[in-house]
Amino acid sequence: MSDCQQSLFLKALRREPTSRRPIWMMRQAGRYLPEYRATRARAGSFLKLAGNPELACEVTLQPIERYGFDAAILFSDILILPHAMGLGLGFEPGEGPFFERPIRSPADIAALPVIDPNDDTGYVMEAVRLIRASLPRETPLIGFAGSPWTVATYMIEGRSSKDFATAKTLLLAEPDAAQQLMNTLADATADYLAAQVEAGADALMIFDSWGGALSPSLYQQFSLASQQRIVQRLEASCPNTPLILFGKGCGQHLEALADTGCAGLGVDWTMDMGEARRRVGDRVALQGNLDPAVMLTNPEIVRREAKRVLESFGKGPGHIFNLGHGITPGVDPEHVAVLVETVKSWKI
Ligand code: CP3
Repeated sequence: MSDCQQSLFLKALRREPTSRRPIWMMRQAGRYLPEYRATRARAGSFLKLAGNPELACEVTLQPIERYGFDAAILFSDILILPHAMGLGLGFEPGEGPFFERPIRSPADIAALPVIDPNDDTGYVMEAVRLIRASLPRETPLIGFAGSPWTVATYMIEGRSSKDFATAKTLLLAEPDAAQQLMNTLADATADYLAAQVEAGADALMIFDSWGGALSPSLYQQFSLASQQRIVQRLEASCPNTPLILFGKGCGQHLEALADTGCAGLGVDWTMDMGEARRRVGDRVALQGNLDPAVMLTNPEIVRREAKRVLESFGKGPGHIFNLGHGITPGVDPEHVAVLVETVKSWKI
């Protein structure tokens, strides 16, 4: 068992006072790190890396060892779950992910199998166990999954999309089938996350990267409602494990997201942290929200913009420093060291 309940990250998620603000970064184990690129080359591909528990453990620990981040995040991907449902995930170099067998009809949705997370994604649970056993005891491990809507965009479009035309057509023209898909994914996701907790995850996060692409009514009906369903299921299966909901472009929905009963909200860089805090009050902790583009500039600008985020949140507990989205491949690793130093030395 880990012993990290008093860690800065979990205390901040409970909105308890901390000696300084915790920091970790979305995509912290990624291509900007030379040691990640070396392990990925040894694995042969991203999918082979994510599918190998020993190597997934190795890359999860790399940014912890290099920078002393206050939380680790499981090395995996949000598309592993639909892959386990039989859609056939692949990655095309330079093109991103694709599915060999995307969903084409309501019949495909009805035929989706119920997966057993310990069996069908056993390698993910094995990675969680290995990481938990290898991490410093005081460092929490975050497990994660995609939101039903965000995962569904890839399942329906078959690949990354700019306008989500096919996925939105399903929501608008086949709402019953779309609802069935959201429910299937919400239930599978809740089981998948609960299995990660059983394997050793100390906190959970849901990535709704494309929630911001929906109109407010479709967002509420499909993305928010399916995330609410997951929160409720997790309250029953893992009542002591805090959950963070991250929605990109979802600033207008912050109050509704806080009302789901989650512990924390991820905030992207398009919203001022102080305003986010005023809007959700002390209902949830907030995580974010430095623009990842800042990391491409220089140490002076990294310090200046990090301080802007720290000051914007203001005094008091409940802030976990992070980027507003994942770190990009071209970032100089030295800039990350500057960011960590700036946040760690900030007087609360
Ligand atoms: O944050 C972490 O370090 C944990 C690991 C993690 C990855 N993907 C590893 C990864 C997490 C949490 C994700 C989530 C994810 N995956 C999201 C939601 C978050 C977000 O970024 O909005 C989405 C939409 C995906 C789907 C996905 N996976 C895409 C679109 C791509 C290709 C894009 C790209 O950056 O090339 C991936 C691949 C992927 N997942 C990489 C990593 C480190 C890069 C793969 C490589 O090494 O080539």
